[in-house]
Amino acid sequence: MQMNYLSTHSLLKRRAGYKKFLTLLSSTLSPVLISGLLLTNAAKAESDIDQDNLDDIVYQAMKVKPNIDNGRNLYRNCAVCHSPEGWGAASGRYPQIAGQHISVNIKQLRDIHDGNRDNPTMVPFTAPLFVQGAQSLADVSAYINQLPMVPNNSVGYGSELAEGKKLYDENCKECHKANGEGNAEKFYPRIQGQHYSYLVRQLHWIKNGKRRNADKKMVKQLQKFTFREIDLMSDYVSRLRPDKSIVAESIYWKNPDFRAGFYSAPRD
Ligand code: HEC
Ligand code: HEC
Repeated sequence: MQMNYLSTHSLLKRRAGYKKFLTLLSSTLSPVLISGLLLTNAAKAESDIDQDNLDDIVYQAMKVKPNIDNGRNLYRNCAVCHSPEGWGAASGRYPQIAGQHISVNIKQLRDIHDGNRDNPTMVPFTAPLFVQGAQSLADVSAYINQLPMVPNNSVGYGSELAEGKKLYDENCKECHKANGEGNAEKFYPRIQGQHYSYLVRQLHWIKNGKRRNADKKMVKQLQKFTFREIDLMSDYVSRLRPDKSIVAESIYWKNPDFRAGFYSAPRD
């Protein structure tokens, strides 16, 4: 399993912050008075901020057996933006998350929580998952994974699909697979059937380094592409169809776990 792109950035930042705080404290207060206090606090801080534990939450969550019933309850907080079906918005404001690999959901939740992606409005909603721990993270991720995908995601203009396919096959297929199904074991997201505008936005963000958790090899690749090429690849990927078995039967399918009229962000 590849773990090299699981960043410890935020943790290091927190550690550095604590050190700064200690330096400041010792320079302003009498060292004799506070030395005892500092010693106990420093020891406590080491155990409070447990690096292994933080990075491990992703792996712990992947080891537990998910409880879909609990996931269903937890997902109520997410559905206001992601909609009960998890189908996202054609505008690309919200991604489709239905059908995404459990491992990818877990890692993205951790990355968003840690500030590795610029998604501050979601953070208050994910914070409770991290207080509750690995089991909750697994539960909501598994619930999202079993939601059927949208049959009619938004797509691009479709004018130069052959070139989009060529670029995709040469650069992206090795990780995201021929049909964009990704690879759960390696945390490679399923990108087939994703909304076109979301794909364009994410690819630019990955290219610009705004998505700080992204695979380094992919970032390097994307840096060589023009706006046009990114557009063509997004168009092509948005048209890759997920297997029928994981797609909803109808565009009118409603998630039966939610009452009719549940209010959520618009789909367009
Ligand atoms: C306030 C609105 C909002 C709420 C509430 C919210 N999200 Fe999100 N979520 C977003 C947005 C916006 C994005 C896309 C961020 C971006 O463009 O980088 C996103 C992205 C994601 C992703 C990554 C998708 C991908 O393709 O990489 C996952 C997984 C996710 N959300 C799960 C959840 C879960 C689970 C909850 C509930 C605990 C939740 N979200 C609550 C707005 C929200
Ligand atoms: C070396 C493997 C690798 C290659 C090659 C690669 N990717 Fe990725 N891709 C990843 C990983 C890993 C992620 C998840 C990154 C993260 O954690 O943010 C990702 C994320 C993405 C996302 C965001 C998905 C989402 O739901 O937010 C898109 C879109 C994407 N890749 C498209 C592409 C395209 C197009 C190419 C070819 C130009 C490509 N990738 C090449 C590994 C790869």
